[in-house]
Amino acid sequence: MKIFVDSAKLHEIKEAYSFGILDGVTTNPSLLKQAVTELQKTNKKISLENYIKDILLTAKGTPVSLEVTEYINEKMVSQAKALYHRFNPIVKNVNIKIPINTTFPGKTGNEFDGLKTIKTLSEAKIPTNCTLIFTPEQALLAAKAGATYVSPFAGRIDDYLRKQHNISFNKTDYYPAEGMLHKDKLLQDNGIVSGVDLVAQIVDLFDIYGYNTEVIAASLRNTQQVREVAMVGADIATIPFSVIKELLTHYKTQEGMQKFTEDIVPEYVTLTQEY
Ligand code: E4P
Repeated sequence: MKIFVDSAKLHEIKEAYSFGILDGVTTNPSLLKQAVTELQKTNKKISLENYIKDILLTAKGTPVSLEVTEYINEKMVSQAKALYHRFNPIVKNVNIKIPINTTFPGKTGNEFDGLKTIKTLSEAKIPTNCTLIFTPEQALLAAKAGATYVSPFAGRIDDYLRKQHNISFNKTDYYPAEGMLHKDKLLQDNGIVSGVDLVAQIVDLFDIYGYNTEVIAASLRNTQQVREVAMVGADIATIPFSVIKELLTHYKTQEGMQKFTEDIVPEYVTLTQEY
C-alpha cells in the first residue's frame, strides 16, 4: 500500500519525506487554511505560490493533490486548468481534487458538475482525485468519468454513524470495521457499516470491473484504521502526520529500548567507534 501524508503543512511534509516512506501528498482547502494560519502566526513573509512550489519540490515527483474551490463545472474546469498549468510544470506531480458532487445547501449547483469536470480534465490528460466519496456508487461513477484516484472518507462515515445515534466519541476513537451494534441494531448508512467497509466495497467493485482508478483511503483517524484499510486492499492511505507518528509507537518498543539502553556494555561501545 502506498502512503500519502494528508497535510498542507510544509514542515510536516518535509519531515515525513525524510523517513523514506512517503508516496504522495493530499491537501484540501481546510488543510491549506490550517497551514496558512500556522504560517501567519510565525510572521514569516512567504507567498502562497512559493509555499505550494516548496510542497511540490519536497514531494520529489510523487503525486500531490491540490483541490478546486469552485463548484460550477465551467469554473471548476478553468480553476483546475489554472492550478495544473501553474504548478505541474515544476516537477510534474500535480493532480486536481474534484468533489464528486458540488451541490450543498444554499448554493445552486448541479449534481453532475463534479463528474463533468472529471471527464473534461481526463480528456485533457489532467489527473484527478475525486474527493468527498461516501458511497461505492459515487466511486463507480467517478471511475467511469475518468478519475485517476477516488478518495472515500472513512473517518467521516464513522463520525456520521455515531453522531446520528448520539454516541459520544473523540476524533481519534476507533470504530469497528465490521460495524457497531447500538440498541441491538447494526449501525449503517445506506448499507455501509463503517469507513473501512466503504473502502473495502470500493476496492472490491473496482476489482470486479477492472477499473484502473486507485482508491485512496482518506479521512483516517487512528492506526488501527490504517491497518484495516491496508488489509482490505486500499491502493493508498492518506494519513495525517500525527497518525504516521503513532504507527511507530508501541509501549513494549519503548520499554525494550529503555532496557537495551540500560544494559549497554561500555567496551562494546568502544568497539563500535570509528574503525
Ligand atoms: C484527504 O484527501 C481528505 O481531504 C482528508 O483525509 C479529510 O480528512 P478529515 O475527515 O479528517 O478532515
